[in-house]
Amino acid sequence: MRRKIVAGNWKMNKNVIDAQQLMIQLLSYKNNNATNCEVWIAPPSLYLMMAKDIYEKEEIGVFSQDMSEHESGAYTGEISADMLESIDANGSLIGHSERRQYHGETDSHCNRKIKLALDKGLIPVYCNGETLEQRKAGQHLEVVKTQTETALFTLSAEEIKRVVIAYEPVWAIGTGETATPEQAQEIHAHIRNIIAAKYGKEVADEVSILYGGSVKPDNAKEIFSQPDIDGGLIGGAALKLEDFSKIIEAFN
Ligand code: G3P
Repeated sequence: MRRKIVAGNWKMNKNVIDAQQLMIQLLSYKNNNATNCEVWIAPPSLYLMMAKDIYEKEEIGVFSQDMSEHESGAYTGEISADMLESIDANGSLIGHSERRQYHGETDSHCNRKIKLALDKGLIPVYCNGETLEQRKAGQHLEVVKTQTETALFTLSAEEIKRVVIAYEPVWAIGTGETATPEQAQEIHAHIRNIIAAKYGKEVADEVSILYGGSVKPDNAKEIFSQPDIDGGLIGGAALKLEDFSKIIEAFN
């Protein structure tokens, strides 16, 4: 049975007081409500240790929003897999479209980061997805195939089973233009078939694939009901408990 996950990508939001308040609210929600999915957050890296202090019983997964492709050294501003492992972080988002857009990140960078994360026992959440131009040009299937193969296909079968994938069509991120459940399912099935072609169906069926891009309380249930969608990577709607909790309840 694949992991069902609702993960919140906080991006560059919240000061320390607001961040602590939301983390505590989420803990109270998790402790008082049965959930049918795992709940993860990816707060700004400044707050990772605070999150681990608050979630001392591992009630909620704690992820960084990025990590270095280097093991250690003169890489100002970066954080390493070793640092994340040393604070018991659960893993890291890797390859988010905003890292690609603003920091020139490529799938080859992602491949190196994913390997480093796995070597340290961390869960890599590999983000991919096409741009609006690529979709309009009918290139989305080929783009996602290339992204998936470049970032993941040096991994062993055991390693790829430990990767969580997040398909996030760039044109749906932060726009309110959510992919339809059918559009999302098409790409999720495509990614799973690509993995199955190399590693076999049994391995591919174990890989959790999340959808991200304007997931909201009113569309989460239909999106998550698709056969190859195993949850969501949530941006804006993760910043308020009332919205994030309704998305978690989409699995109830
Ligand atoms: O990583 C998740 C994020 O990119 C989605 O953002 O605001 O469209 O839910 P949003």
